[in-house]
Amino acid sequence: MPSVSTSAPSVRPSDFRFRCIACGDLSDTASQNFRCAYCEDLLEITYPDWKESRPDAVQLKSTWRNRRLSSSAIDLSGVWRFRDLLPALESDQQAITLREGNTPLYELPQCARITGVPQLFAKHQGMNPTGSFKDAGMTVAATFARRAGFRWVACASTGNTSASMAAYAARGGMRGLVLVPEGKISWSKLSQALDYGAVTCQLRTDFDGCLRLLQELVLRAPVYQLNSINPFRLEGQKALVFELLEQLDWQPPDHIIVPGGNLGNSSAIGKALVEMLELGLISRLPKLSVIQAEGANALVRTLREAAGKRLINVPAETRATAIRIGNPASWKKAVHVLEATEGACEQVTEVEIAQAKAEIGAEGIGCEPASAVTLAGLKKLVKQGFVKPGESVVLVLTGNLLKDPDFTIDFHRGELFKGTKDESASAALNALRRPPIVLDATLDAVIRTLEQAEKS
Ligand code: F0G
Repeated sequence: MPSVSTSAPSVRPSDFRFRCIACGDLSDTASQNFRCAYCEDLLEITYPDWKESRPDAVQLKSTWRNRRLSSSAIDLSGVWRFRDLLPALESDQQAITLREGNTPLYELPQCARITGVPQLFAKHQGMNPTGSFKDAGMTVAATFARRAGFRWVACASTGNTSASMAAYAARGGMRGLVLVPEGKISWSKLSQALDYGAVTCQLRTDFDGCLRLLQELVLRAPVYQLNSINPFRLEGQKALVFELLEQLDWQPPDHIIVPGGNLGNSSAIGKALVEMLELGLISRLPKLSVIQAEGANALVRTLREAAGKRLINVPAETRATAIRIGNPASWKKAVHVLEATEGACEQVTEVEIAQAKAEIGAEGIGCEPASAVTLAGLKKLVKQGFVKPGESVVLVLTGNLLKDPDFTIDFHRGELFKGTKDESASAALNALRRPPIVLDATLDAVIRTLEQAEKS
């Protein structure tokens, strides 16, 4: 059974190593469950060389800028363009890339007015090739799966990871095995995995059950796991921060706000920020805050009730299915980055998520429900005085609007909360609803509708 190693021919072992986040053990190889051989905690990737020959910040910025003029596949990737701070490849051709990254940073003027935070931006990771932030991590992890000689890659998913993995497996000539909770992921995401040719299993359990099963599977079968427990995924997801800071001319925002599910993305963003500070690419750390759905609030409870010392897992329930996770694998890494950046952790209700999603949509941008927790969370953080009106804020929108059309249609038709405890609270959202209007196909009917809309 192949293991994952740093010691391939022209990669010096010191280019990167695996480090256990709990006991600090360093190693050149990782087993297939990416757990420490001694204490079983999670691994992260570290770059021992940076101690002796620290990459030069000015040089890096100029190299990255110059690569934007290049037309080679590796430079057209918004992840590999920053490869100096990623695990080293033997050759540029080795990368499996779909030109991921290169995502826009939008201003949000209407949401800025709503929240009272004038400098409000959205980094839209939903503009990636498969429509979510997962592609940034997948390009790196899939590349290392192929380099290690695996024929099969596998993941448990609430939908986006599986869509992304299936695409990168196909591009890299590997087979993909997807484990998703039956009936709990959106059709759009499921359809992507099918279209990209993965073997897709809908398991009669939740996401946490799928992930548990995958952990056992990778120890029994020669499949490479591409969940965010895989530290190569998190290395790739760091690129969002490199690109964001470049877009902001290396001036860090005061706050970055990200949704929290399995907590890989917040961990990756935090790791990138800390590394950038150490390397002198930025002069101060933004506060990184994590927002969860109230019905899937394991990190919120872990921090409030156990001071971040042990995980409190929860039975997860939310219509933001991407973050319907009760037993987040990377909780310790997330606690660590919240401490390092002095960020906050908050929860938001289903009604608050739906409202925020409609408000982002009304900016002409749109996102999936899980991404909208960032705006809903920002409103709370402003109310608490944690975010001050004069401060700059970047919301990380993790998934594309088209990822979950059922949610959007149910919302606008007024059906999202029908028969739930939120039905009356959601009436306040009527002004945001734009239900489709069925009419006779006459000019009169359309003109009447136009006039009514103009008045309303
Ligand atoms: N937003 C979206 C759109 C997601 O798909 C996910 C996670 C998250 C936020 C949370 O990110 O897990 O790194 O904290 N989706 C995973 C999946 C679990 O399987 O697609 P996280």
